[in-house]
Amino acid sequence: MEFKRNILCIGAGYVGGPTMAVIAQKCPEYRVEVVDINEARIDAWNSDEIPIYEPGLDEVVKEVRDKNLFFSTDIPNGIKKADIIFVSVNTPTKTFGEGAGMASDLQYWEKTAHEIVAHSDKNKIIVEKSTLPVRTAEAMERILKANSRGIKFEVLSNPEFLAEGSAVRDLYEPDRVLIGAHRSDDGLEAERELVDIYAHWVPRERIITTNLWSSELSKLVANAFLAQRISSINAISALCEKADADVSEISYAVGSDSRVGAKFLNSSVGFGGSCFKKDILNLVYIAKSYGLAEVAEYWEWVVRMNEYQKERFVRRIVKEMFNTVAGKKIALFGFAFKANTGDTRESPAIMVTERLLEERALVSITDPKALDNAKLDLSEMNGAVTYEPDPYKAADGAYAIAVMTEWQEYKDLDFEKIYASMKKPAFIFDGRNILDHKKLYEIGFNVYPIGKSALTHFE
Ligand SMILES: NC(=O)c1ccc[n+]([C@@H]2O[C@H](COP(=O)([O-])OP(=O)(O)OC[C@H]3O[C@@H](n4cnc5c(N)ncnc54)[C@H](O)[C@@H]3O)[C@@H](O)[C@H]2O)c1
Repeated sequence: MEFKRNILCIGAGYVGGPTMAVIAQKCPEYRVEVVDINEARIDAWNSDEIPIYEPGLDEVVKEVRDKNLFFSTDIPNGIKKADIIFVSVNTPTKTFGEGAGMASDLQYWEKTAHEIVAHSDKNKIIVEKSTLPVRTAEAMERILKANSRGIKFEVLSNPEFLAEGSAVRDLYEPDRVLIGAHRSDDGLEAERELVDIYAHWVPRERIITTNLWSSELSKLVANAFLAQRISSINAISALCEKADADVSEISYAVGSDSRVGAKFLNSSVGFGGSCFKKDILNLVYIAKSYGLAEVAEYWEWVVRMNEYQKERFVRRIVKEMFNTVAGKKIALFGFAFKANTGDTRESPAIMVTERLLEERALVSITDPKALDNAKLDLSEMNGAVTYEPDPYKAADGAYAIAVMTEWQEYKDLDFEKIYASMKKPAFIFDGRNILDHKKLYEIGFNVYPIGKSALTHFE
């Protein structure tokens, strides 16, 4: 079959894989290829066990793979053929040199720019899919323009707003698609090409077009606003525990105000995921580098409040368990940073495990999808950790359970059976407020939710 256009995506991760699978499904006349330097990851995309767990994704990939969706490690050839190149490589926080711990590490990104130049022999549209500091397209253009063959590259920004755990649904029905382009003739023509792709399934009024810098910055700001809501309600949760107020009731009361809205107001042990912390720190770094100290400090507090919330959770466990957890088995229910994903990047469970191990607890971890990643995350940590797919076995003989991820199946467990198998007094620290606390209390547990009074059998 003759395809209308060749699309290439560099980076076959949590964003590149699902996004390209949906584009291939919705645009059968386009040939879509996803390339990556990670051979094992590409092999997995080509196998029965795709490398990421995402509800509904398996079906989409299997429907279009080898029809108009291809996964490969042949980056030069992919670049050569492509008319449109999405760049979806990782942009983690820099760990060295200037801006370490805050700025984005753009080495993977820059490497792709050089590769694109090296292997191109015709004009192309380059689409920034990765989340990037504002004005990165400028640097990208400088690298791309430094070619002596007269090839023209038009850079667009098209940040991805999917959330892990609901990526396919978010891609099918996005609140909006954002496309940033130079407001020049060439920029607007490239923008039209990209709009045409999304318009296959996204209503036109949901495709927002802006200038390049607004688009780049909108992504950082969107994540900063979402994380800010979580940190705001988590700050209030600490106050609720002191004042005998109930943070869920406050979320409901405040979120019912249509000017505030109900989403992202659940208090928890803290936010995780690969994006929030790194994107806010990046925003902080950008603000600092423009000399805007107050702006930087304002956003930095969103991250600091999150660290405080995680720390507070561990301190509470240790304090309530009579100031010592040494030698005590503690079961962590969930390790993924949220439900419906196996992703553990920046998961609060990592820090909680680390701190519990420092206190010499014996940590037993269970999770339906994230145990492999948990093992990698904790591989260099000293201490007693066991991994147990079955939550009943994880809790067997434990002094306490700490709920770290809001997996639906944890709500449906037989807690009478679990209680019977645990050491007494038995504790539950519900870091996600998902369990029926009153019922657990009646079974015999001492229950410690987030932002609510504890239910204990102690005098
Ligand atoms: N994960 C999310 O939920 C999410 C959502 C929106 C935006 N983003 C952004 O999207 C980008 C990608 O995130 P991700 O979660 O998919 O990351 P990821 O780490 O899962 O995937 C990135 C992939 O890029 C590959 N890669 C790196 N350098 C390469 C190169 N030179 N050539 C070819 N492949 C290369 C890596 O091997 C990796 O497989 C980041 O900027 C992130 O901030 C992520």
